[in-house]
Amino acid sequence: MATPVATDVSSPGTGAHCDQTSVSAGSDRATTAADLRARPLPRINIQAFCEDQNTANLIQQTSQDRRLSKTHVGVQMGGLKAAAHYYRNAPTPNLIMVESLHQRDGLLMDLDELASVCDSGTKVIVIGHVNDVLLYRQLLMRDVSEYLVMPLTVPQLMESLSNLYNDPNSEPLGTVFAFVGAKGGAGSSTVCHNIAWTISQDVQSDVVIADMDLPFGTAGLDFNQDPVQGIADALMSPDRVDEVLLDRLLSRCADHLSLFAAPGILDRSYDLTANACGTVVDALRKNVPYIAVDVPHLWTEWAQQVLIQADRVVITALPDLANLRNAKNLMERLNAARPNDLPPMLVLNQVGMPKRPEISIKDFASAVEIEPVATIEFDSQLFGTATNNGQMIEEVSVKAKPVERFRQLARILTDREEAKEESKSLLAPILGKLSLKQLRKK
Ligand SMILES: Nc1ncnc2c1ncn2[C@@H]1O[C@H](COP(=O)(O)OP(=O)(O)O)[C@@H](O)[C@H]1O
Ligand SMILES: [Mg+2]
Repeated sequence: MATPVATDVSSPGTGAHCDQTSVSAGSDRATTAADLRARPLPRINIQAFCEDQNTANLIQQTSQDRRLSKTHVGVQMGGLKAAAHYYRNAPTPNLIMVESLHQRDGLLMDLDELASVCDSGTKVIVIGHVNDVLLYRQLLMRDVSEYLVMPLTVPQLMESLSNLYNDPNSEPLGTVFAFVGAKGGAGSSTVCHNIAWTISQDVQSDVVIADMDLPFGTAGLDFNQDPVQGIADALMSPDRVDEVLLDRLLSRCADHLSLFAAPGILDRSYDLTANACGTVVDALRKNVPYIAVDVPHLWTEWAQQVLIQADRVVITALPDLANLRNAKNLMERLNAARPNDLPPMLVLNQVGMPKRPEISIKDFASAVEIEPVATIEFDSQLFGTATNNGQMIEEVSVKAKPVERFRQLARILTDREEAKEESKSLLAPILGKLSLKQLRKK
């Protein structure tokens, strides 16, 4: 995960170079919560053979997505015919995507030629331009993994790819929320812990808080837990992290809520790698429905990668100039690195501190170009009590104003707020009709 997207647009053979500037599909930030169902793909090799430059551009753009960062994607022109020709003398990769502009008979003829040189274990996605049920059935009989009809959007293609490698029906696929402060002390950890706790109580779904602030993390203190090694052990030997080890390293703080605690001691230096963090987060994703990552206020390679790879990012900021500059920079960087995701959510915290000059919420929002999803008032009595007691805000006072804010944020993050919007924007019914997986089940 340390290396960015490994994309090879010109290999193998005489591939055409994709013109990234002309790509438009999915880059207009029309992303909705429904588009975010795709999950990361494993370390696989994907080769695409396109006929239409738009399809090549679409695949090229999809390959830049964070969820494909472990894959190697090659795109070249020539379509199904070129693929069949190429693989006569070369082993086939994990996944071949082949485009054909032909109708049923022509397409099937070319496909049979490819099938004769395809190694077992290679999956094939056919991208076509005709909506033909008989063709679907023929493809199904030939064990094609998916038939997709152009035009497609990046999120649609990504979801198809994701479904090939992550069966949404059988595997629990955790959603990762990353929380970061625009400045140290903004209250990002407080927001992270309270939201995670609220999700665990309201949704009654398992949540793990991963405290990535190894030397100074406060999650253990906030939940009144004895310091444990937890996450440090996992990050030292990330490849050993499985269900059994997780069970041993996680400490339970409430019903449905566990903590991957930071040691919070300074007897060594903590130099994390993006790879180790990615492996540990992926292991959590396989075992827990919701993961709240408390990311310290840092801009190291690993911290950036944790933010970029998360399903949702929450930035907590105070209403002052340094926070504004940093929040704006974070927004811009993350939006650029996550073109097919929703923008980070902005939480303005500690608003209305007595005697402190503040930037107004309106001015802050217009400078950062996003409305805060929640504004939380400054309340030293309430937050101080919670901190000192090792409690969450709701445990100190159910009626406190921030409680409703945390509940609302929890609902948004778990998609229960946007359920209506999602059903409107679902393209699934159309895709569903074309899905070979569904036909197979019939
Ligand atoms: N809305 C608030 N009002 C008053 N104090 C707050 C508020 N939010 C957080 N705090 C306090 O601010 C301090 C820093 O919070 P913390 O979550 O550790 O910040 P960060 O993780 O961004 O460095 C904590 O003592 C916390 O209790
Ligand atoms: Mg913190």
